[in-house]
Amino acid sequence: MSTDEQLMQALVQQSHQGPRDLTLTTNQPRPVPGPGEYLIRVGAAGVNFADVMQSRGVYEGGPQAPYAAGFEASGEIVAAAPDVDSPLPLGTHVVGVGAGAFAQYMTMHSAGVLPLPSGWSDAESLGLVLNWATALAALRSMGEIKPGQAVLVYAAAGGVGQAAVRLARHYGARVIATASPTKHATVKALGADEVLDSRRPDLAEEILRLTGGVDLVLESVGEATFGASMTVAKPFTGRIIILGAASGHAEFSTRDLLFTHYAQVRGLHIFKWAAAAPAAFKELLVELDALIDQGVYPPGTPQIHPLALGPDVLRQLEEGRTSGKHALDPWCWTSCSDVPE
Ligand SMILES: NC(=O)c1ccc[n+]([C@@H]2O[C@H](COP(=O)([O-])OP(=O)(O)OC[C@H]3O[C@@H](n4cnc5c(N)ncnc54)[C@H](OP(=O)(O)O)[C@@H]3O)[C@@H](O)[C@H]2O)c1
Repeated sequence: MSTDEQLMQALVQQSHQGPRDLTLTTNQPRPVPGPGEYLIRVGAAGVNFADVMQSRGVYEGGPQAPYAAGFEASGEIVAAAPDVDSPLPLGTHVVGVGAGAFAQYMTMHSAGVLPLPSGWSDAESLGLVLNWATALAALRSMGEIKPGQAVLVYAAAGGVGQAAVRLARHYGARVIATASPTKHATVKALGADEVLDSRRPDLAEEILRLTGGVDLVLESVGEATFGASMTVAKPFTGRIIILGAASGHAEFSTRDLLFTHYAQVRGLHIFKWAAAAPAAFKELLVELDALIDQGVYPPGTPQIHPLALGPDVLRQLEEGRTSGKHALDPWCWTSCSDVPE
C-alpha cells in the first residue's frame, strides 16, 4: 500500500488487448472531484461485462487505453466539489457509476449517486443501478411483461440474468432461462421454469417445443443467439430487448423483419435511457425501492476479491466461467470473503 496520502492503488487498462493488460498500480494519483462531483472512498467495485468490452476496445464511447478501469462502485463520500447543490453529508455511503472504480478512490457525479438501501453494506448494494435497473427496465418499461407471458432470459446465472429471473417470476411470467450447464442448479433455485444451454444447436426448436413461442426475449448474447431469438419470439406481439452482445454483434436486415420474422426489436442502454427519459427512470427507482421493501430484491451477495485479482475475474467473466455478481475490494489484500466495512 502506498504511504503517500495522494497516491492510491488502482487497476489500469494498458491496451485494448483485454484483461491480460489490466495491471495493478500503487502510485495512481488520487482523483480530485470536478464540478458537481463527490470524491468516494470505494468500499466495493462491481465487475461487469462492459468492463470486458472496454478492455477490448469494443464498448462504443468507452475509454481509450491507458485508462483507470472499472465504472461501478459503492463507498463513502469523503469530499464534495464546492458547487454540489445540497450535498449529502460527508460519510454517507452511496452507490453509483463513474470512471476509475477499480481503485481506492474515485469520483462520481452528485446527480447520479443513490444512498444505499437502509442497512445494506457497500458490497450488498452493488448492482442496484446496473443489474437490477437494467433487468427491470428490460422486463417492464421496455418489455411490458404481463402475468402468464413467457420470457426468455439469456445468461440467467449472471449479474443481470439473476435479477431478471427473480423479477420475471415476481411479475408472474413463465421463465425460460439459458446458462452454461454448470450453472443450471443456480438458475433453477431462482425459480426459472426451464433452464437450457444457450450453446445447444437446437436451442430455438427446443424453446418452441416448450412454449410455442415467447412473448419477450432479454437478448444479451448477440451474434450467437440472435437468430434463435428471432425464431422463438411470437410473430407481431413478441418483443426482443437488445441489452448486450457478449458474443459480438448480430446482423439483421429489413428483409428479415419484412419476410421472415415479425418480432418487435427494441434497444436498451440503461444510462442512455435514464438520460433520455429521466421521469421514467425515477419511477423505476421508486419501483426498485418497493421491491427492496417487499424482499423481492434482497441484499446482493457478490463474490468479493482483492483488487489485484481483478484481471483474473475479468478473464473468467469473459470466458463465461463466472456466476452471479463479482466485486473488487480495494482495501483487502488476501481473503475478502466477508462483506467489507
Ligand atoms: N444495456 C444495458 O444497459 C446493460 C447494463 C448492464 C449489463 N448489460 C449487458 O448484460 C449482459 C450481462 O452482463 P453481466 O455484467 O451481468 O454479465 P454476466 O451475465 O455475469 O456474464 C456474461 C454471461 O454471458 C454469457 N456469454 C458470454 N459470452 C457468450 C457467448 N459467446 N455465447 C453465449 N453466451 C455467452 C455467459 O453465460 P453462460 O455461459 O451461463 O451462458 C456469461 O457468463 C452483458 O451482455 C452486458 O453487456 C447491459
